Amino acid sequence: MDSIHVRGGQPLNGRIPISGAKNSALKLMAAALLTDGELKLTRMPDLADTRFLTILLTHLGASVQAGPGVMKIHADTLARTEAPYDLVRKMRASFNVLGPILAREGQARVSLPGGCAIGARPVDLHLQALKDLGAEIDLTEGYVVASAKGGLKGARIHFPFVSVGATEHAMLAAVLAKGETVLENAAREPEIADLADCLNAMGAKVEGAGRSTIHITGVERLSGTTHAVVPDRIETGTFALAAAAAGGKVLLEEAIPEHNESLWKLMRAAGVQVTSVEGGIEVSRNGHPVLAVDAETRPYPGFPTDLQAQFMALMTRAEGTSVIRETIFENRFMHAPELSRMGANITVRGNEAIVRGVKTLRGAPVMATDLRASVSLVIAGLAAEGETVIGRVYHLDRGFERLEDKLKACGADIDRRQE
Ligand code: EPZ
Repeated sequence: MDSIHVRGGQPLNGRIPISGAKNSALKLMAAALLTDGELKLTRMPDLADTRFLTILLTHLGASVQAGPGVMKIHADTLARTEAPYDLVRKMRASFNVLGPILAREGQARVSLPGGCAIGARPVDLHLQALKDLGAEIDLTEGYVVASAKGGLKGARIHFPFVSVGATEHAMLAAVLAKGETVLENAAREPEIADLADCLNAMGAKVEGAGRSTIHITGVERLSGTTHAVVPDRIETGTFALAAAAAGGKVLLEEAIPEHNESLWKLMRAAGVQVTSVEGGIEVSRNGHPVLAVDAETRPYPGFPTDLQAQFMALMTRAEGTSVIRETIFENRFMHAPELSRMGANITVRGNEAIVRGVKTLRGAPVMATDLRASVSLVIAGLAAEGETVIGRVYHLDRGFERLEDKLKACGADIDRRQE
């Protein structure tokens, strides 16, 4: 199994190209199932998760061609309407094929995804949205069996709380439903707007994505198109926090400043310089100490749960005490004990982590159970004395494209080894 070795103490200086967003790319790939035309995705990240979804799309009968930064998906006809357990349990985003298959074929059988390391993550809101659109849903033997004999019908769908996946899933199904759909209390993440842009380029009529109420007028068919995946705001934030932790100055190329306003506010309060420049965002910290700042995760435009672990890594060496509250997932502090093994002073109480800044972190062997937690350990390693060895690197590979190459190009002393 691969591990990543980081020898800390080197500042980061240089340019980091930001890849397309994993969490958008996966939904855009599912959208390709809605049309018999070809969907060409550019700025497409090459990740374990996108490769994994490729296997599922191929299983369903799509032809998928991937090259550097590009993926072409052509689901001329669907060979199957079933997504089996083995192909869904390893990656929850696979569940999003349910809506498109159902909308196109009038039936679908898709395995329930099951729990995951950061929380229970039920899919009740996804299923309720499909029921509102007229689907009959049965749960049998761990599968969702859905049918809509006369086709899906537009509906008013009110989400009781904000869910990114359920909002996207409802959009993916409603674009081919008969009549009007209104999504209320919809998620507002940039990935939602990106999905809407792609669907509209395919011929859909989606208005208001990025706001709490989304209006969709169903159309009879969608066609192929070319769409550039939105730059990854979580990768952007991760490298910004890495530069803040290690010191130095990096230009995050193609990053969209507005997509991370909540993070920039916290980082500026912590004494880090963040500047919008031509072609991206510049982040620098030269000599200034990091100050402790409190943070609370919230749906967009709030501070994202997907940056909570990385922010905690920065706070471990801050001057003062920071309280970090996680409100989206119930079990998303697994990085805290690993950071503590490196000398951090963190107390977890329920959904709060109290981080008392220490002067020095020391390298250690560590591992984590999810993607963002793993990368927080890389950030801590960059700022630590000595060597940090991060195990279970497959978590990182799910969502970060060429992570160690990008860091190495900016001066980090980091490499990957096969043990
Ligand atoms: C997406 O997950 C992302 N994943 C997550 O990124 C991200 O952390 C999350 O949104 C929040 O921003 C992808 O896009 C593939 P939710 P999602 O539905 O859609 C509960 C990463 O590291 N809920 O907004 O699953 C749920 O349990 C990943 O890249 C229900 O109760 O998140 C959670 O507590 C991790 N019932 C809350 O809502 C439902 O039917 C928000 O989840 C759906 C969700």
